[in-house]
Amino acid sequence: MEKSGREEDALRLAMPPLQTWYRANARDLPWRRLRTPYTVLVSELMLQQTRVEAVKERFVRFTERFPTAEALASASEEEILKEWEGLGYYSRARNLHKAAKIIAREGFPRTWVGVRALPGVGDYTAGAICSIALGLPEPAVDGNVLRIVTRFFADPAEIDDVRVKKRYSSLLREVYPPETGEFTEALMELGAIVCVPNGAPMCGACPWSALCKAHLRGEETAYPVRREKRERRREDHTVLVIRCRDKFALVRRPEKGLLAGLYGFPFGDPAPYRILASKRAKHIFTHIEWDMTGYLVETDEEQEGYLWATAEEIRYRYALPSAFSAFTEWVRPRS
Ligand code: ADE
Repeated sequence: MEKSGREEDALRLAMPPLQTWYRANARDLPWRRLRTPYTVLVSELMLQQTRVEAVKERFVRFTERFPTAEALASASEEEILKEWEGLGYYSRARNLHKAAKIIAREGFPRTWVGVRALPGVGDYTAGAICSIALGLPEPAVDGNVLRIVTRFFADPAEIDDVRVKKRYSSLLREVYPPETGEFTEALMELGAIVCVPNGAPMCGACPWSALCKAHLRGEETAYPVRREKRERRREDHTVLVIRCRDKFALVRRPEKGLLAGLYGFPFGDPAPYRILASKRAKHIFTHIEWDMTGYLVETDEEQEGYLWATAEEIRYRYALPSAFSAFTEWVRPRS
């Protein structure tokens, strides 16, 4: 999708049916009842990693116990963590405590930059808080919103690409109606109950069914497009930990390719040596998997072509990559 006037116009035309639909179908969620910027902050942080159903009751309890930023700021971390119990991801509670102290001291921020600077607030949460609590035309774009808009435009762009998120954020920013919070939550709602993430969307109930390109083509589930997962190539290697008295053989890996220029154990054949131990290990790189059989072997002669290093040097000087870490337990001074 190119950012163009046409896309903007198409989205703008889609606003009224979305608003009408949302007003008739919005779920009655506790954080939508009585709102302050502070309660929006609390609910959005809770909703970051916890399902709506699980947040409902806990949000009510939390905001009854700590109804304002000042109340939360003056509570102890222990009390707050206790109240957060069971929600998981406790750094959110600690961040909320820090944010409340800032707000109690300086007031609630009035700009996107100010909101985004609060602890625990990323781009998505900043957009949600700004549009819902402050009336600013700032979108909250996550996977749900990207699913809706890529279907709407039948856009084959890969949504894992951060530029796609940026493009849609700026497009949405252009079309925000004055009811900013309502629009943000209408998009969330559409993604949660109609244009659902797993399985077929409920296009029969969708306010955009006459406008959605993917639906008009009968290709809803072809979007969003994700970057193709590349297959990992499997490689078998025999890794030698060759010991000669108190030293071990290292090789410097080639300047190109995996672990370029780093020191590692040589690959090779254990047959010429005395074999003391062996074990298997696996290491997964982004595109390659090493299935390794490692041998601890012994020799009386420091052969050429290797760098011979003591256990201490290997530990402190050559810092072997973690691909070899299954075998570094063999690198010890001889007992
Ligand atoms: N997920 C994140 N924020 C939300 C909100 N305000 N309403 C419903 N679901 C959400």
